[in-house]
Order: sequence, then structure tokens, then C-alpha cells
Amino acid sequence: MLDLDQLTSLRAAQGSRRMTELFADNPTRAQDFSVSTGDMRLDYSKTMIDSAVRDALLALCDKADLAARRDAMFSGEPINTTEGRAVLHTALRNLDGGKVMVDGQDVVPGVRDTLARMRAFADGVRGGAIAGAGGAITDVVNIGIGGSDLGPAMAVRALTPYHDGPRCHFVSNVDGADITDTLAGLDPATTLVIVASKTFTTIETMTNAHTARDWLTRGGGDAGMQFAALSTAGDKTAEFGISPDHVFGFEDWVGGRYSMWGPIGLSLMIAIGPDDFDKFLCGGQAMDAHFREADWAQNMPVLLALVGLWHHQVCGYRTRAVLPYDQRLGRLPAYFQQLEMESNGKSVAMDGTPLPYPSGPIVWGEPGTNGQHAFYQLIHQGTAVVPCEFMVAAKGHETGLAHHHRLLVANCLAQSEALMRGRSLDEARAKVADRFSGAELERQAAHRVFPGNRPSTTLIYPQLTPYVLGRIVALYEHRVFVEGVLLGINSFDQWGVELGKELATSLQPMVDGTASADARDGSTAALINYVLGHR
Ligand code: F6P
Repeated sequence: MLDLDQLTSLRAAQGSRRMTELFADNPTRAQDFSVSTGDMRLDYSKTMIDSAVRDALLALCDKADLAARRDAMFSGEPINTTEGRAVLHTALRNLDGGKVMVDGQDVVPGVRDTLARMRAFADGVRGGAIAGAGGAITDVVNIGIGGSDLGPAMAVRALTPYHDGPRCHFVSNVDGADITDTLAGLDPATTLVIVASKTFTTIETMTNAHTARDWLTRGGGDAGMQFAALSTAGDKTAEFGISPDHVFGFEDWVGGRYSMWGPIGLSLMIAIGPDDFDKFLCGGQAMDAHFREADWAQNMPVLLALVGLWHHQVCGYRTRAVLPYDQRLGRLPAYFQQLEMESNGKSVAMDGTPLPYPSGPIVWGEPGTNGQHAFYQLIHQGTAVVPCEFMVAAKGHETGLAHHHRLLVANCLAQSEALMRGRSLDEARAKVADRFSGAELERQAAHRVFPGNRPSTTLIYPQLTPYVLGRIVALYEHRVFVEGVLLGINSFDQWGVELGKELATSLQPMVDGTASADARDGSTAALINYVLGHR
């Protein structure tokens, strides 16, 4: 169990010390509190982590037996103990590595075989050999939700400059508006529908899949050719009527939110092509090697986890903002939200006893610079401290618009600097002294004070390529894993999503009007009656 006493004392001893003082005391602080892997750099110097704090944080890794836990994950031990499963998304990107044994069997040949089948399918779709009733596939619609949607949707958008295949669309919500708006304007005779569902039972996905099939067959499409499935449930994909050559299976040792590296990434592979998809996998694999080989003090996922632990469990900052200065990473905060909150949003330890400290934080965010004109007000001057995770590329893809990128970078760096420095009352007074005096000067100045000393990290990389995106995603996956190990929780189940699903099933006949809601609580019954009376 995590022992936070030493860290809590160190925090208390910092008193009113500021991070600007840490920089003044240590001229090499930026280097000393940054970590690199390859050409990617994580700067965590704009935090209150000093050497003593870092030592105490690093000591937690050995106390939690992190090396053994990490090795257990990579070697296929059933570390997801509530479901009795191994956790082996890393095997999906183990392109040139050795054997990975699960229950005495090497899973790598199966992974390679599926990848080769995906490659042949993607090439077929991109080259026209796999076509619809109306000719070459022009559009791909991925129907899935949660981990069967967020990863590929995020990555297809992130890698737009590499997109040379058919257009890709994503339908996730059971709200009929989602599929209606997505299919509007698409040709049912040239659209490929990919039904992505690990279990192939998720009600949203199955409802949308049936609606898509009706649309496609009514519009003259060939459902036999124009449907594919990505699932662990081969029996259910067959029941749905999808031909086995269009089914790409995976095993239960791939968790939904960790699944974009395998078949769930098919839409991404079709969009950017198998070669660039391989580069994405290679990026993930490079981060795996770094995580396995680097000392804790130089290990990027470990340090990112420790910074998070310091802010959330020690300093008590309850949320974390992910702020990519990259418009194409617009879905990354939502992707990280599932990764972090579904993995580490737990209340009990591995052994089922209540956790004596907070589990994972609330993760949210939006790309910069847009957020600056919306919620950054609170980040700079609100009463809650929000640790910010900035990320930015040194170079954009729009070579003809390099001045845009320079502005983007300047804004990103300005935000972390402003959060750290703040603006004192004297500085605020000086800003308005030419316009106000006396009590009004004091009142106006008070509104212009920035407390500063607000923490952030910056992840910086040369350019957002498939390889870099692979490294970023794997970095966060391992960070979530390390956090889970340190907190002593199972990061790989998600029982918290079950109750709502069960209740939705039982409420369905009441919303349909075929069963009475009288036995439900007063609020739910009244809301159902409202719906029945207003449609
Ligand atoms: O309800 C949560 C969840 O099980 C996620 O963990 C998962 O990513 C998502 O639903 C979709 O599940 P499936 O891929 O089985 O449709």
C-alpha cells in the first residue's frame, strides 16, 4: 500500500516556496528535471518537485515492486486479477521481439498472422480489389464505442497529413443523430462498414450496426462485401452474418481501451496505409523498450506517473488538464480520459479493501490555443489548481504556414511560463496605475493578480508523425499502468460501467411504454412519465 507520509512532510516543509525559487537556486534545473527518450523530451521542471521530493517519489517504485509488476505484464501473467486475464496490448506491437507466452502458448505468431490479414484487407480496400456494389470504397464507417472508437477516431484525425485512403467516419453514440448525420451524404454502394466491438454485445454498437446494415442494403450496397468485424467473439460476428474473411479477431488479453494497436486500428490502417500503421506500432514498441530498460529516474512513463501522483495524491489537485497544442490532437484528451479514468477510477485495492487515498484524477482538456479563450481563465486565476500537461511539436506539417506554427509554439510556452510566474499585486498595480488611483486602483489591481506557482509539464517532439503518435500513446498507457501499481489497484477492469448498463436494460420496457415505472424511485418514475407524455 502506498505510504505518502514522507511526501506529505516534504510538501508541508515547502511552505510558501515557489518554483521560480527552485530555478533561481539551480541554474540547470530545466535539464535536471527533464527526461528524454529518442528525440522526445518531457520537461517537468515547472513543478514543485525538487531533488528530495523526486527521491521520495522514485523510492515508491521499488517499494511497490514496480520492476517485477512491469515484467509480469510484459510476460503475459494474469495481472488483471478480477477477470483472470493477462494484459498484453504490448504484444500487438512486438514486431521484432521474442516470444510472448500466455497459458504456455506463444501468442506472437497469431498477432503477426492477424496483422498480415489486416494489411491484405487494407491494401485491398485502398487499391480497389475489395470494393462495394457501386465500385471502389470511398468511405469507411467505424461503428464502435469507448475503446473501440476513441483510439482510431483520435489517431485518424491526428494523422490527417498521412491520410491517403478512403474517407473515415466514426459512429459511436446510440443517439440516432450520430448515425443519421454520419451516413447523410455517403453512398451505401461504396461505403465499408466496420463493426468494432471486443464483445460484440455492446448495445450502442449493435444497434448502430443493424441500422447501418438496413441503410446499406436499402441503398443497393452489398452487405456481404461491405461489412467487416473486429472482435474477440467469432461466434457473434458469424451470427450477425459477417463473412469470416472480413473478421479480424483478437484475444481477451487486449483490453478495450488498449486495443487500437491491433484489429481495432483497422480504420486507421485503411486511412494511412499499412506502412505508416507499422510506423505507429514501431513508435509504441520503442516506448515499450524505453519503459523496460531505462532507470526509474530516466524513465519517461515512470516520471509522468510520479508527477501525477505528486499533484493528485500529495498536493491534492483533483483534476489534470491535457492540453495539446495541435488541432489534430483534438480527440486526445477524450482518449486519455478513458485510458486514465476507466483504468484508475477505482475505490478498492487489489485485495478488495477500501483505498485509503484518492485513486486516479479527473482528466479533461482541449487543444490550445482554443482553450486559452475559454477555460484557461480558471486555470490561471481560479481557486482550484489544475496541473496542466502541455504537448507541442517543434514543427508543423503546414510548411507554407510556418508562421502559424511559430505562433502556436509561442502560445504554448507562454502559458506554462505564465502559470509558473504569475503576476504579483505590485506588478498588477503598475499595469493600471496610469488609469486608476486610490481605492479604485487597489480594487482594479486585485482582479489582475495571477497567483502563479501553478504546475505544468511540457512534452515536446519534432513533429506529429505516426511513429511519434505511437510513442505518445504508449507513454500514457505505461504511465497509467505505473500509477495503478503504485496505488495498488487493478487498472485493467472496469466494473464501474456495469450497473448503468443493467439498469438501462431494465428501464427499456418502461421507456417503451410496455411496463410500469411505478416500482422505480420517484425521480426516475417521474422522468419516464414525462417522456411518455411528451412524445
Ligand atoms: O462499457 C465500457 C466498455 O466495456 C469499454 O471498456 C470498452 O472499450 C467499450 O465498452 C466498448 O466495448 P466493446 O468493444 O466490447 O463494444
